[in-house]
Amino acid sequence: MRVPLAVTTSAKPNEQLVSQAQSAARQWGVPFFSRHPKESITPWFDSRAEALIVFGHDGVTLWDREGHHGFHAGMAHLRRLRLAEGEPDTFVRVAELRKGDAVLDCTLGLGQDALVASLAVGPEGRVVGVEKSLALYAIVSEGLKTYELGPDSCRVEVVHADTHEYLRTLPSRSFDVVYFDPMFARPTKSQPGFDVLRRFADHAPLTPEALQEGRRVARRWVVVKGSRHSDDLRKLGLSPEPGSRYTDVVWGRVASL
Ligand SMILES: C[S@@+](CC[C@H](N)C(=O)[O-])C[C@H]1O[C@@H](n2cnc3c(N)ncnc32)[C@H](O)[C@@H]1O
Repeated sequence: MRVPLAVTTSAKPNEQLVSQAQSAARQWGVPFFSRHPKESITPWFDSRAEALIVFGHDGVTLWDREGHHGFHAGMAHLRRLRLAEGEPDTFVRVAELRKGDAVLDCTLGLGQDALVASLAVGPEGRVVGVEKSLALYAIVSEGLKTYELGPDSCRVEVVHADTHEYLRTLPSRSFDVVYFDPMFARPTKSQPGFDVLRRFADHAPLTPEALQEGRRVARRWVVVKGSRHSDDLRKLGLSPEPGSRYTDVVWGRVASL
C-alpha cells in the first residue's frame, strides 16, 4: 500500500544522516524507508509513497513523481536585501511591521513572507508561521534550520497545524499582526517552487470565521493577500488597499476586534 508521505535518505548516506532522517520521520509520524546504496527512488512512487522527504548531505528535499524541491529563500532573499537597503516592501508596508512586532503568519507556505517579516520586526520581534501541509512544513522547517538569517532578524518559529484550530488556542490580542495568504485561484507564478506549493498546499479558502478569530488574536490588524482576478477579498468584506495597478496581487487589511 502506498503511503502519502515517507522519509528516506540520499543514495549514499552516512550513519548520522540516517539517524537524523529516522528521528524526523518519528517526529512527523510518517514511515522511514531505508535505501540501498545507489537505489533509485523513482519506482517507489508506484509502490511505496506518493511523496518522499529525502535527507541528503546538502539538505532536505521533497520529491514526487513530478519533480523535487529543496528549501531556498527565492524572492524573499532579494526582498530582504532591498528591505535592508531601506527600499519599500508591499507586505511590510500594508502590515506596517515595526521593530519588535510579533507576527503570526497563518499560511506559511514556502516561508517567503515570514522571512521578510523576520527582518522587518528584527531580533526583538517574533514570527510564528503555521502550515497545514506536512510535506511543506517538513521542508520549510528543515530548510530554515540552516538558512543564515543574520543578526538583524528574529528566527521563524514553525508550527505544523491547521491555522483555524491553532488560532482558537491563542489568547486574545497575543500578536500585533495576523497574516493570511491563502491559495486563492491566481495565475501561475514563475517562481521556482511554486509548482510544488500548488501540489502539496491546502487549497481551502479563508473562511469568515477564521478571519474573525484572526481579528481576536491580533492587537493591531489582520492582513490578507489576494488576487486581483478573484473576488475572494470582497466576499470576506475586505476592500483592497491602495497599491500598484501593475501587479496581480491585492491586499486587504482589517482592524483587530
Ligand atoms: C499561498 S501559500 C503561502 C505562501 C507564503 N505566504 C510564502 O510567502 O511562501 C498558502 C499556504 O497556506 C497553507 N494553508 C492553507 N490553509 C491552511 C490552514 N488552514 N492552516 C495552515 N496552513 C494552511 C497552504 O498549505 C499553503 O502552503
